[in-house]
Amino acid sequence: MSRVFTSSLQRLSSRFLQSQKKILAIENEQEPVGKKTDLRVFAANELAALWGIKDYEIRNATRKDGWPEAVKTSYNANGYRIDDIPVMLELLGRSPAASVQPFYLCVSNFKGGSGKTTLSIHLAQFAALMGYRVLLVDLDPQASATSSYGLIPGEDYAQDETLYEAISARLRNEPAGPVTLQDTNWGNRIKLAAGCYDMQFLEFEVAAALNRDPSLRFWELVKDELDKVSEGFDLVVFDTPPTLGFITLNAVSVAHGIVIPTPPSMLDFVSTGSFMKMLATSLKMYLKAVPVGNGGSDTPLPSAEFVRFVTTKLDMRQAAPARISQYLAHIVGIEQMCPVPLVTSARFEDAMNRVRTIYESRRETSEGYTRIRDAFDGIGRDIMREVEQVRTRWLEEKKEADHAA
Ligand SMILES: Nc1ncnc2c1ncn2[C@@H]1O[C@H](COP(=O)(O)OP(=O)(O)O)[C@@H](O)[C@H]1O
Ligand SMILES: [Mg+2]
Repeated sequence: MSRVFTSSLQRLSSRFLQSQKKILAIENEQEPVGKKTDLRVFAANELAALWGIKDYEIRNATRKDGWPEAVKTSYNANGYRIDDIPVMLELLGRSPAASVQPFYLCVSNFKGGSGKTTLSIHLAQFAALMGYRVLLVDLDPQASATSSYGLIPGEDYAQDETLYEAISARLRNEPAGPVTLQDTNWGNRIKLAAGCYDMQFLEFEVAAALNRDPSLRFWELVKDELDKVSEGFDLVVFDTPPTLGFITLNAVSVAHGIVIPTPPSMLDFVSTGSFMKMLATSLKMYLKAVPVGNGGSDTPLPSAEFVRFVTTKLDMRQAAPARISQYLAHIVGIEQMCPVPLVTSARFEDAMNRVRTIYESRRETSEGYTRIRDAFDGIGRDIMREVEQVRTRWLEEKKEADHAA
């Protein structure tokens, strides 16, 4: 690569980063931008619908001791703060099962633009609304899940706070502090392990370290660091890069649940097939490479309890994608297929251009909003049902073990 080209790339990238905030300010009609601090409140009837209960059940519960006060906002909506949700669910007797350990949910497909980040950030927020305490882990060097919270690397957080720095230091046998979890506008309910551009170098660093020490448990590098900071979280969501390197393998290997977003175009379809083939091949290859004595239950086999395929970017105006989505269901089996597709939506694109998720956007009655909101709710409900089944089993197993002891 020519030096001229490299330096012009560098100049361009810093201009992009500097302009980012200004453009966002214009797009947001001068609302404060940068790191998000504000989150709308959630109306009682919206929460009732999410929790699958009748409005009057919430109305009745407001008389209970300890029930949080609804707040009035500037746009004259009455609602509850995100941090009040666990108390409300507790008083309603609808809390998720107590956590035995954080549930690792990995959203992956090496095809770029398949909807990984979109799904990761919305699943994390749906889970938060259902009462889970969530850690969102951005493993993509492009750090788009991190930007979705308005965080700019190097400005809102330092590189040495990231997962990259912690793992890299460990590989160099240097001491490093634990990962710093970033606050989000979702209060105590969602924290973020921010991504950074240097994350891509981890691929080379792990390969080099593995050369020096073949017994390195490379598939647990991410988990080892998260174990130091994930206490008290119910759910850890991995947004992964569009590659099948060590980072993605780490996420897939330790995941308890895997979500594979699949856009229904023939090209994406084929590429999802190759993703799984390559995943299987890589895992087998690494399995063989792991020295004897490090095998048995220690091998980097995915220990996932479930895999969910989600049709993403489904354009309802066209016939072919709907057909391809059906082929997908046929191939992977209907029981592994999320029944609700993520439809393409102009309303969604509009929200994302303002760096707002559907859950952060003000609720509307418009058809466009309802269609995309129902899609995210349906996907979230389907996947969290699977998650909750496993978590409930863990809790029962723990109770039995405690009882036997
Ligand atoms: N349902 C949808 N409707 C409209 N645009 C979408 C939808 N889902 C994703 N997109 C857009 O497609 C692009 C790629 O999605 P993204 O989630 O970033 O994919 P990935 O993380 O797999 O690269 C983004 O610009 C996103 O806003
Ligand atoms: Mg992404």
